[in-house]
Amino acid sequence: MKNTLIAPSVLAADFGNLQRDIEMINNSEADWFHIDIMDGVFVPNISYGMPVLEAINKHAKKTIDVHLMIVDPDRYIKTFADLGANILSVHYEACTHLHRTLQAIKAEGMKAGVAINPHTNIDLLEDVINDIDLVCIMSVNPGFGGQSFIENAYAKIKKLKDLISRKGAATLIEVDGGVTNKNAKQLVEAGADVLVAGNFVFKAENPTQTIHDLKKLTCF
Ligand code: DX5
Ligand code: ZN
Repeated sequence: MKNTLIAPSVLAADFGNLQRDIEMINNSEADWFHIDIMDGVFVPNISYGMPVLEAINKHAKKTIDVHLMIVDPDRYIKTFADLGANILSVHYEACTHLHRTLQAIKAEGMKAGVAINPHTNIDLLEDVINDIDLVCIMSVNPGFGGQSFIENAYAKIKKLKDLISRKGAATLIEVDGGVTNKNAKQLVEAGADVLVAGNFVFKAENPTQTIHDLKKLTCF
């Protein structure tokens, strides 16, 4: 049986009740915390930064998956390691020396991830796939939660899955943006291992039940 991992995106949490929402994830069947860091330069939005992640890390009892949507991410690799990130993803489009960046992330004891924008072709990862622990396929243009899912993601997942098996890599495939109960199963059938869900979880009437339902729908 496939154990699909569910990673609620804290960006959609209620920041006035952050500890409550962190505990909800701790006590649910969710697998990871997905943390979106936006700098207002790489993406047209600013989310939250170090003090908030520090506060989250104080209460979070599960893997912390940090998605950096920032320019020149090399400057902050050590900072995010110190803040408790277990997985650190940088954007392909933000890295001039991606291979070096990946080694630097691993040297800090974290798993190394690469996120790719909807326009970025999977083929561009061919020469570096064996160095990547996780590829985050963006199924929306990064910058905001609550956007609608871009259908082309299915084809990209399949192409990435092929590349991973052709190269004998152990890379996980994460999908981020517009994930709901309408597309979750099909994403896993295409090859996704990790589903990020922000609005679908936190804006639900019962987030814990919604996580349970997503888990049930995607573990088969
Ligand atoms: C978008 C972020 C996503 C976002 C997902 O730039 O990377 O992680 O929080 O939110 P939903 O699931 O609401 O699309
Ligand atoms: Zn994200």
